Parts: sequence; C-alpha cells; structure tokens
Amino acid sequence: MKILGIETSCDETAASIVEDGRKIISNVVASSSDLHKKTGGIIPEIAAREQLRCIIPVIEEALGQKINKKDPDIEAIAVTSGPGLIGSLLIGVETAKTLAYIFKKPIIPVNHLQGHLYANFLSKEKPLFPALGLVVSGGHTDLVLILDHQKIKWLGGTRDDAAGECFDKCARLLGLGYPGGPAISQEAQKFDKKEKIITLPRPMINTDNFDFSFSGLKTAVLDKIRKLKEKDKFNKEIIQELAFEIQEAICDVLVKKTIKATEKYEVKSLLLAGGVTANPRLREKIRKEIGTKVNLFIPPPSLCTDNAAYIAAHAFFNFKPKPWSKIQADSSLSIEEMIK
Ligand code: KG4
Ligand code: ZN
Repeated sequence: MKILGIETSCDETAASIVEDGRKIISNVVASSSDLHKKTGGIIPEIAAREQLRCIIPVIEEALGQKINKKDPDIEAIAVTSGPGLIGSLLIGVETAKTLAYIFKKPIIPVNHLQGHLYANFLSKEKPLFPALGLVVSGGHTDLVLILDHQKIKWLGGTRDDAAGECFDKCARLLGLGYPGGPAISQEAQKFDKKEKIITLPRPMINTDNFDFSFSGLKTAVLDKIRKLKEKDKFNKEIIQELAFEIQEAICDVLVKKTIKATEKYEVKSLLLAGGVTANPRLREKIRKEIGTKVNLFIPPPSLCTDNAAYIAAHAFFNFKPKPWSKIQADSSLSIEEMIK
C-alpha cells in the first residue's frame, strides 16, 4: 500500500510516498530555516506563510506529477494533525483534507510525536515490542514505553525546556545562530578535550524518575558567559569549549535516563527519534552504553529531523482512516494520545 504523507507541524513543509510502511519512494522536505536564521528562531506567522507558498509544489514533487493532471498512484493520505504550531498544522491538515476529498482517498491523521518514532520502521529490520522510545526534538523530550502499535505509555519528560530548545537557546547565547543543535555540534568538534576546564551541571541526572529539566543548564551557561565577559575571556576557544560541555551535559542526562528505563522495563528494542538524535555525540554515547540485550534503532540523520516519510509509516502501521470533515488540527496533542 502506497501512502502519501504530509507534514507541516513546525517550519518544514514535507511530503513523502512510502510503500507498506517501510520503503521510501519519495521524500521531499522544504525548510524555511534560512528565513529564521535572520531572527534567531522561528516566527510562527512567517513559517506558516512560507508553508502556504510551497505546500503544493512539495506535494507535486513527491508525487512526481501535477495534482490536476491525473489521479495519483497512492491508496491513502496521512497528515500530521498535532502537536505543533497551529498556523503551520492547519496548512497541512486542510491541504490533505482537500486532496482526500478530490481523489476520494482515505485520510489518516497522525500524532507528530508518535510519527517520529516510526522513522525506525523505515529500515530493513523491524523493531520488536516492548520497546522504549526516546523522543527529543525542538519542543519535546519524552521517554515512552511502546507495548504495541496504539499502546504507548508515557514514562517521563521534561519539566521545562526541551533538549532541542536547550541546544537552540544555548547556541543563541554563544552567538552561533539557528538551528542551535547542529551549530553547537560543529563548534564542539573543534574543541581540544585536553584543555578542558569548564564544567556545567547535569540537571536531574540521578533522580529516581524519568523526568528531565534543561532550563537550569541554560541559566548556568548564561552565568558562565557573563563571568567570562567580565574577565574579557569570552573568545573563540572558550565558545568551542562551552559548546562541547553543553553537548556533553545534555547527552549525559539523556543517555543515563534512557538506559535506566531500558533496564527497568526489560524492553527488546530502543527507538531514538526526533531532531536531537541526529547529534553524532548522542548517537556515539548511547551506542557505547546500550549493551547487548536491547536492539538499538537510530534513524539516519535525515529521518531524525522533521519529514513526512515517518508520518506515512505511522499511518500504515496504525491504519485508522477518519472522515475528512472530522479531522482537525490540534496543537497540544500529547505523545500518548491516540487520534480516534
Ligand atoms: O524533530 P525536529 O526536526 O523538529 C521538531 O519537531 O521540533 O527537531 C528540531 C530540533 C532543534 O531544536 C534542533 O536544534 C535539533 O532538533 N537538532 C539537533 C541536531 N540537529 C537538529 N540537536 C543536536 N544536534 C544535532 N545535530
Ligand atoms: Zn518533529
């Protein structure tokens, strides 16, 4: 079964065709991140206007044809209905509903956060349940237990900033631009570890739960920068060291809690998902710590960040079409919520 996936929850406009939930036929992503670089972050109104401009060309590129020419070779349409920025979500949802109506295809609304986890099904090997999922993106940090498709239990998450948000905000403090995750990662690679003197806190690393907190780390970075500036020591090398230590601190907390959860719940697979899991240091650290009992799945970096292939994959494995007139964008869906 070929499904057209559509994803517009944040600043990307994405469309993809996936066959039987595993095989990517096409995967097109247009990002307005260059526009947001100028402002140091996403301005929702600007993101939505850009999505309105490019949604049809992106879908046509994924389909390999103009929409008004002939019926496309797809059996269903999947669309992210939440969570996300409401203006952005509406563009994807309303476009998908219109296409479903015109082409008389079933339409499946998809929870974006659950969708991220299904990037791990776009591989040769299929994850076995029970699985543990770590979803770390710009707006979310969640640990979930996946007992089966449609059976997701939330174990814990961030109490304040998301891990990606912490990368983005710290990068801004360091003057490294947007998006902050890749910028920090690049600076961190330039740092010579032998010279290391700066240490930052690892918030909540030893707490007896699966919650996270990243806003204190951002405050600690702000405080360090202020003191370094007072001593006229805020230079290129210090920025590299701070980038390195920020990345270490975020990754250490994510890895420790994730490994603890895999042990407690005796899962068969660990699924990493979300933009932050594109981070090479996080991937390296988790590979080192995971051990042999659990099968580790990490999508290729291009499938970690927002795209529509995992939306189509989620719809295949959780095939629950809904009448188009009943589908609504919901900006505040939680990761556990199944769309009925
Ligand atoms: O999943 P995603 O593409 O969009 C959301 O659903 O939020 O995640 C975006 C987040 C941003 O905060 C970005 O800085 C972070 O993922 N990110 C990274 C890397 N690539 C993207 N964080 C750390 N290292 C990276 N290489
Ligand atoms: Zn996302």
